[in-house]
Amino acid sequence: MVNPKSSHRPTICYRPIRPSDLEILERLHADVFPIRYESEFFQNVVNARDIVSWAAVDRGRPNGQSDELIGFVTARIVLAKESEIGDLLRYDPSKPDQTLVYILTLGVVEAYRNLGIATALIREVIKYSLSIPTCRAVYLHVISYNNPAIHLYKKMAFKCIRRLQGFYLINGQHYDSYLFVYYVNGGCSPCSPLVCHSCGELRESGLKMDPLPKEE
Ligand SMILES: CC(C)(COP(=O)(O)OP(=O)(O)OC[C@H]1O[C@@H](n2cnc3c(N)ncnc32)[C@H](O)[C@@H]1OP(=O)(O)O)[C@@H](O)C(=O)NCCC(=O)NCCS
Repeated sequence: MVNPKSSHRPTICYRPIRPSDLEILERLHADVFPIRYESEFFQNVVNARDIVSWAAVDRGRPNGQSDELIGFVTARIVLAKESEIGDLLRYDPSKPDQTLVYILTLGVVEAYRNLGIATALIREVIKYSLSIPTCRAVYLHVISYNNPAIHLYKKMAFKCIRRLQGFYLINGQHYDSYLFVYYVNGGCSPCSPLVCHSCGELRESGLKMDPLPKEE
């Protein structure tokens, strides 16, 4: 594997994922995630079927690899009222078309980590969500022991709003997940008793959270 920190000066660019990325996209997912994704998922990503995506590539890479994925983010638009966080938005019944952007997968090749690539990929998702007038938030799940990812989301001002017990099942074992949200276009939490209860649980778990906005 090329080490960009010593072999050459990386020139990172971002572009949509396309059909020619299929093989490497599948390989990277298998490399960075402990769970397997169906081939249909990859087909949907590369053909942009209900999924938006961005690839990071290093134009400074030699040997015809300058267009090969070294990072990716995939996301989908969901209807707020049908999502699991519908209750965490100040839902306005007069606007039934409110949407959210759900980040499905995010990963960076190990040799390219800590260069700000995931930060830039998430910024692309946030920019995209801001361009959708009906969109109220970007959200995602992260397994509770994934400290680099949790650090990243907190650094980017995502708010941790829930701990979901046993959310992931990996090799027969259950793991909790945190649910992180980044509000956009005036979206915000209603600070319901349910939300405040979740905050308490998270404080007990040692995960610091930003204060929730006060109810008007
Ligand atoms: C999480 C991941 C996408 C981050 O990618 P990246 O390109 O290295 O991220 P960035 O360079 O933008 O930011 C990394 C931040 O995490 C920090 N970090 C790295 N390792 C860390 C650790 N073990 N604990 C806490 N923070 C850590 C870095 O210091 C950096 O923060 P800083 O900017 O404040 O210094 C990458 O580690 C990855 O692909 N992991 C495997 C797949 C994965 O977990 N995806 C997320 C699923 S929810």
